[in-house]
Amino acid sequence: MAEVVIVDTPEAAGTLVARHIAARVRDEPAFTLGVATGSTPLPVYAALARERAAGLDLSGVTAFALDEYVGLPEDHPESYHSVIRREVTEPLGLDPARVHVPDGDAATIATAGERYEAALDAHGGVDLQLLGIGTDGHVGFNEPGSSLASLTRIKTLTATTRADNARFFDSPDEVPTHCITQGIGTILRAGHLVLLAFGSGKADAIATAVEGPITASVPGSCIQLHRHVTVVVDEAAAAGFERAEYYRWVYEHKPAWQGL
Ligand code: GLP
Repeated sequence: MAEVVIVDTPEAAGTLVARHIAARVRDEPAFTLGVATGSTPLPVYAALARERAAGLDLSGVTAFALDEYVGLPEDHPESYHSVIRREVTEPLGLDPARVHVPDGDAATIATAGERYEAALDAHGGVDLQLLGIGTDGHVGFNEPGSSLASLTRIKTLTATTRADNARFFDSPDEVPTHCITQGIGTILRAGHLVLLAFGSGKADAIATAVEGPITASVPGSCIQLHRHVTVVVDEAAAAGFERAEYYRWVYEHKPAWQGL
């Protein structure tokens, strides 16, 4: 089962996950981090920036992003190239040459998935993948119905996701209709998945992903197929779990040597 850690606040989650990543990077400076966009992982990046300020060197870390919009210029402020540069590469002091984001150029999108998979394979994959979850259960941009074996490819966004992401654009019509995303099969190849969810708006999606049936209709449920998953939620997002008391008990009695 996925380990579920319930903490008081998103900041506490960020500190917990960043400490773990920092320890991994100290052990292995050429660590590979899978990065996600959205508001959810921001506390992790903020806490990692504090680790950096305290002396952690992240310049040897390679990062692979999950997804990108199709058809937005890379320098558009809401392209995931821009978001990753702003939220991850710059504050963490990553080497921009080691930061990979799928290519959302509409002119070459037909081969972009294959090229991203080849880059991931050539590098040797991702050690730890950070994940958020959409209110419709998506991970990356794998919308409900995505094959559990899928690889990086173009997808059409659902109306729900476009409405959720409209807050980043001047008008809802500006939200792109298509995206390129690592597939569920791609995500499942990472060594360790860390899925984060905060706030009551995510309570249903995260409970269904963790405790519901494994189904392409809830892409986040793919985590149940992975042998090393840590789900970190705040109290509000934990509201839908049937086994919350058990998760708390397990975490309180966890052997210290296990780490995250
Ligand atoms: C986007 C991203 C996902 C992210 C989701 C949730 O659609 N492609 O990777 O998990 O939004 O976003 P937020 O964390 O802002 O709720």
